[in-house]
Amino acid sequence: MSTNSGSAIKKVCVIGAGTMGSGIAAQVSNAGLEVLLLDIASGEGSRNKPAEDAMERIKKSDPPLLMKQENAALISTGNIEDDLGAAGQCDWIVEAIVERLDIKRTLYSNLMPHLKPTTLVSSNTSTIPISLLMEDMPVELRQRFCITHFFNPVRYMRLLELVEGEETRRDVIDTLADFSDRMLGKGVVQCADTPGFLGNRVGVFALQAAIHEAVSLKLTIEEADAIFGRPMGIPKTGAFGLYDLIGLDLMGDVVRSLNSILDQGDPFHEVGGENLVVNGRVKAGFTGNKGKGGFYREDEAGQKFAHDLETGEWRPRAESPPELVLRGEKEGLAVLLEGDDNLSQFAWRVLARILTYSAGLLPEVTHSPQDIDDAMKLGYNWVQGPFEMIDVIGSAKFVERLQSENWYVPEYLRDLDGQPVYAVKNKTLKVRHWGGDLHPVKLPEGVTRFHMLRRTLVPVFENAGASLFHLDDGTRLVEFHTKANALDADCMDVVNRTAYDPGPGIIVHNDAQHFSAGVNLERFMEMIEAKNWDGIDAFLLGFQKAVAALCYCPVPVVGAPSGLAIGGGFEVLAHCDMVVAHANSVLGLVESVVGLVPGGGGVKEIYWRWYQHTGDWEKAARNTFNQIGYGQTASSPDEAAPLMYFLPERDRQVMNRDRLIEGARAALGDLATGYKPRESPEFELAGGAAYAEMVEFLEKGVAKGMFFPHDLTVGSAIARIVTGGHDSGKDLVSEEAMFARERSSFIELAKTPQTLERIKHLLRVGTALRN
Ligand code: NAI
Repeated sequence: MSTNSGSAIKKVCVIGAGTMGSGIAAQVSNAGLEVLLLDIASGEGSRNKPAEDAMERIKKSDPPLLMKQENAALISTGNIEDDLGAAGQCDWIVEAIVERLDIKRTLYSNLMPHLKPTTLVSSNTSTIPISLLMEDMPVELRQRFCITHFFNPVRYMRLLELVEGEETRRDVIDTLADFSDRMLGKGVVQCADTPGFLGNRVGVFALQAAIHEAVSLKLTIEEADAIFGRPMGIPKTGAFGLYDLIGLDLMGDVVRSLNSILDQGDPFHEVGGENLVVNGRVKAGFTGNKGKGGFYREDEAGQKFAHDLETGEWRPRAESPPELVLRGEKEGLAVLLEGDDNLSQFAWRVLARILTYSAGLLPEVTHSPQDIDDAMKLGYNWVQGPFEMIDVIGSAKFVERLQSENWYVPEYLRDLDGQPVYAVKNKTLKVRHWGGDLHPVKLPEGVTRFHMLRRTLVPVFENAGASLFHLDDGTRLVEFHTKANALDADCMDVVNRTAYDPGPGIIVHNDAQHFSAGVNLERFMEMIEAKNWDGIDAFLLGFQKAVAALCYCPVPVVGAPSGLAIGGGFEVLAHCDMVVAHANSVLGLVESVVGLVPGGGGVKEIYWRWYQHTGDWEKAARNTFNQIGYGQTASSPDEAAPLMYFLPERDRQVMNRDRLIEGARAALGDLATGYKPRESPEFELAGGAAYAEMVEFLEKGVAKGMFFPHDLTVGSAIARIVTGGHDSGKDLVSEEAMFARERSSFIELAKTPQTLERIKHLLRVGTALRN
């Protein structure tokens, strides 16, 4: 693939302003490019009304499709009667209109006279073969036409499937692949023109298999979703929960459509027939989260209910997962297959179906298992793909059990002959293709998925919380790997050690879903319950020492987060020389939500940043107080900039999270020449008068019902860190003193019963307690 060939695309037109078209248009605007969004013309009022309505939905979308509201200005609206001329002048037209061949074909033929000779055209179809889409096209257009199949919601789902027709030019595919990778942040998988391509072929099959087996084994939907969830490395929505999320009616259509296009002999038909349970829910009006619930629902009082498969009635939702699930989460998926109770049977049957189905797609759909694994990881957020799961179970063991229970064993699996699908040879990760040969895993130049790279490396130091790796050029890489990457003493031990053996530069990165959701609250809760204040102080001190060591070590340090980087996770980043963040990263300090203050230098760093920005300690104190008091987060680096969580003049963002390591390495290179760590700053406390003002603000807020009583205590504790408190003058204090102020405010709050209640509530119920 030529580097940056995608930069030939400067202006994009999206036709069809529904769910997918809106998402694609928004993501193009997030890349900083102009986009024309067209829909049908309206008979009354504004001719562009359908597209204009879509714009309003884009602006109000939640989770937001726009990385910042201003991006909306890059999207202009129009209609397919008046604006095909303008569409034809764009470099790429994406068609995302209704899934009807006749309507799509009519649109292409109307477009044809308007197209400039270089415009690329693609369809977002999920089910129509490209051969049918192209049937009436002149050869000249067939050469620059392909399918670009995005996943919903476009901003957040990483997979883009690219399907070429027989006549599609290679450079067209390369250009769109490169553009989608670098500009739209997608992991591109090139697929054959087969039904459902890869993601939905396996993904929909997997959901159907889980629902089918849950019903036949008489599991509850909670049991099924708990097994077909985290312990398998599948999002915790499971199968029934994902149906609710996508919409039972929409899923019904997808299943029916796959049913109608897949060969009669395809094992899909064993699990993908008309599903009485799903149909029954839709008939009863339960279409999922967008309506009044589907398999699950929550009432206005927050009570949760689940659909009982036996009785067909609603009943309270079971909250605690079966023991097997907890073990599976800790020990991995092989544990699920050990027993022979119903839950283990379910796990086995579902996995046996999915993994043999995937293996059976070779060679018809692809020659490389990596394509299927990538599609499932990027399109369905699985932690590992089907073939990686086969390796976890052990291919010999897996095939043996299949044979002993008379399951069909696809040829690819038989030919493995006990060997793993993936293997490291000469420090390169390789994958066994159809035919048995090992090929290096295929990724575009500059793309690194750390979970793949790490298989070729040996950690230099490792504990339960984190690992330290030396990359090929000596660069140190710190990887957190606890549950949700909640930071604990082990994690900070690795940070600290790295800072004292820093090599030429340090990258703090991992490619789990979340960089870090903050410090481990369970641990804090235990220490608070044991009144172990010294233990808390020691943990905080250790945390502060580690981040300070990172900050002042003699080489540059780059933090490269994606997903959540909040609380303690953000505090680690706040002490790096530069942050290279994925453009969807969520950054912020959220401690006040659980009745605490940031205790790892978060208050200090935000205070310092606001002072640098305003040159005024009092303003800096007020802004710090407000933003940390409200526990503000930002859902993108763009939105984090006005809150000083992201410094655009210094930090960088990348659209594709698989390019974070590339970006971090480049950043280290740029920082290396003449690098000197910053000098430890002095801080001026904003003084007693500023403190009094803040407390008055909080008291009035409580009196008006804007704040809850404990907000006053928490807010006052934040205020004390930056002002010095009641009788304080505008004293100059050292960084170390600021660290100490954070620790003492933290412990003071930890001693209040209201803070313990907040922590417990968040851990048990998952939502913030207002007390
Ligand atoms: P949608 O129903 O939300 O939107 C379709 C839009 O196309 C509507 O705004 C409609 O007014 C417009 N439209 C219909 N005929 C038109 C025409 N002749 N010219 C211009 N606009 C026209 O549909 P959705 O879900 O956005 O799907 C669009 C395409 O994307 C379909 O081909 C679908 O198979 C595919 N797709 C859908 C996914 C999903 O999750 N919804 C995922 C991936 C692909």
